[in-house]
Amino acid sequence: MKYLNLVALATAVLLVTGCTNSTLSKQELQEQIKQKEQLGKVLFFDKNLSKNRSQACATCHNPERGFVDDRDNGIKAMASMGDNKKSLGDRQAPSAAYAMFSPKFHYDKKSDQYIGGQFWDGREGTLAGQAGGPPTNPIEMGMPSKKAVVDRLKENPYYIETFKNIYGEDIFLSNEKAYTAMTDSIEKFEQTKEFAPFDSKYDRFLRGEYDLTPLEDLGRSLFFSNANNSCANCHLNKPEDSEGETFTNYEYHNIGTPINHELRAKNGVKDIDKGLLANPEVTDKKHLGKHKVPTLRNVAVTGPYMHNGVFKDLRTVVEFYDKYNNKERKINPETGKPWAEPEVEETISLDDLKAKKQNDRKIDALVAFMKLLTDKRYEHLLEEE
Ligand code: HEC
Ligand code: HEC
Repeated sequence: MKYLNLVALATAVLLVTGCTNSTLSKQELQEQIKQKEQLGKVLFFDKNLSKNRSQACATCHNPERGFVDDRDNGIKAMASMGDNKKSLGDRQAPSAAYAMFSPKFHYDKKSDQYIGGQFWDGREGTLAGQAGGPPTNPIEMGMPSKKAVVDRLKENPYYIETFKNIYGEDIFLSNEKAYTAMTDSIEKFEQTKEFAPFDSKYDRFLRGEYDLTPLEDLGRSLFFSNANNSCANCHLNKPEDSEGETFTNYEYHNIGTPINHELRAKNGVKDIDKGLLANPEVTDKKHLGKHKVPTLRNVAVTGPYMHNGVFKDLRTVVEFYDKYNNKERKINPETGKPWAEPEVEETISLDDLKAKKQNDRKIDALVAFMKLLTDKRYEHLLEEE
């Protein structure tokens, strides 16, 4: 696995930097990747890449909180706020952790499914492509152009020297090339172990280093059991209990998430979130309102939940799924009222959501299982809950 990753990385470097580097030895290549990772890390934390110098990638993807936007933003962290302090989005920042494993966005003929990509609607194919978006996105970092971003890079002697070292003396002769180099380095940083340590209690359990409690063990059986529950239909990428599981099959589904009226009252958005259909590569209306299945890694510390942050507690999410199979599960515990209508009704993956009805202990067990998926560095956050 690790070896394959290195080969993939090395190939990527060759593709990006062209044939001039094909003479680099394997060792030199690895050294170059390391330099890019370090540069990418500095870039990831650099607020100077936003118009008012107030936001870095790390602002909305906080490494202290599972790489999500945990700022309140005047809306209990349901969505992100841009660098202009006015632009409140309609979607949550998904975790940048484990994002490196999402395959390049593509259509799979056999399953008739779109798979992979970045963002809730997959509209960026890869991490590097993705990294190029926020700096010039008016509701995110808000820079007017790529040139403006590169001018900011050139303010910093460290960047000038390091970019030239890695990407060649003439890298700053082209704004386009310098910008692409920036996204390449950010991608390399996002591909480091820092973003995917695989050291949660669940991973330690797989390695024989942690014993599950009875509740966690029940949760684990329920989660993986197709006969009992639905989760594995979408939140599983490998056979049960495999190492390196990311808990998403990278497909797109509509699970009937309701509109977040509290958020919409603040951001003024009136249009429905088209989900996958908002991706320029997708035209078939049957994809309306589908969103990328998110990873469940660190999910216990990255609430609120769903693309629009409509649910506050993890337990609510599990009760929400149960409402499809359990007539008694009528009330949203957070509002005390019946579950709100889905934003998009006609494309819900009803077949995949079929399961046995769950009692309260089973709901608790599933929550306990998902808490196991918390990286070691965030385990202390679970105690705050
Ligand atoms: C203003 C907040 C904000 C900033 C700054 C920001 N992001 Fe994001 N990021 C978001 C939001 C919101 C989304 C989801 C947008 C969507 O799906 O339409 C997102 C999505 C992503 C994703 C996709 C993850 C997935 O699983 O699909 C990655 C990776 C990412 N951002 C990395 C970055 C990087 C790298 C930077 C800096 C260059 C950055 N972000 C800057 C808010 C932000
Ligand atoms: C049909 C596919 C499907 C099935 C089955 C499914 N999920 Fe999901 N899950 C999704 C999608 C898609 C989302 C994102 C929906 C959105 O944002 O509107 C999601 C979101 C979530 C979230 C919120 C994650 C976040 O970061 O906001 C949790 C937690 C979750 N699912 C757990 C489960 C559990 C537990 C089960 C089994 C009881 C389950 N899912 C079954 C597709 C599925």
